[in-house]
Amino acid sequence: MQRRGLVVGNWKMHGSTAFAADLARAVADGSRSLTGVDIALCPPHVMLGVVGAELRGSEVALGAQTVSEFSEGAYTGETAASMLADLACSFVIVGHSERRQLFGETSEVVAAKASTALAAGLVPIICVGEVLEDRQNGATNAIVAAQLRPFLESQGKDVLRQAVIAYEPVWAIGTGETASPEQAQAVHHFIRSTVAGVDQATADSIRILYGGSVKPDNAPDLFRMTDIDGGLIGGAALKADDFLRICGSTQPS
Ligand code: 13P
Repeated sequence: MQRRGLVVGNWKMHGSTAFAADLARAVADGSRSLTGVDIALCPPHVMLGVVGAELRGSEVALGAQTVSEFSEGAYTGETAASMLADLACSFVIVGHSERRQLFGETSEVVAAKASTALAAGLVPIICVGEVLEDRQNGATNAIVAAQLRPFLESQGKDVLRQAVIAYEPVWAIGTGETASPEQAQAVHHFIRSTVAGVDQATADSIRILYGGSVKPDNAPDLFRMTDIDGGLIGGAALKADDFLRICGSTQPS
């Protein structure tokens, strides 16, 4: 099964509109020489307009970092999936470990967010991953399965096929410590088998990204693994050259 590589930049809460415009323009320009990989940028919500304008006419897609689980109404400060679609977003990250840990998002809320995203025509990038203690206790697979379950149980096969999953071990995020290609591959394989429990065709086609201290020098070895279809990039996505080198490291698996 050939799955097209996908590399997504998660800018988190960094930058200014000027920084965002410059970075988006540099990525859009640099991406023109890359083939065989899908690329998306997820700036902070308030910069979606400015980044979207820079990406127009390029192959680089726009994404957001989170979305409300509600479709509209009196939810002060929240952003509906339809609003992100209106701003030409194609992707939205849901259930990032920072949202789970710092903002109390449960796997049920994450599943609801993914549902509203899918209903609005967005591709949700559903993040899962264990903390160090879980890994040391041999609980990685159980944690990841539990994080995915509400989503897998709430979606029909046809809808499920539209989603992307990102495995981001919490201990590897922003720490400079990356999962080894073999460690990451083992969890990616487990995730794909879990999806196969719902639908084999979806398991074959769904893209599973790795995130956690991906840099230009470790990306090729990670992306070479059978079940790793690309990356969700934090710190290295804030430097156009590094991000583009990572994008260039994907190959069809
Ligand atoms: P770093 O690449 O900075 O470790 O962040 C990973 C991440 O959280 C992407 O969503």
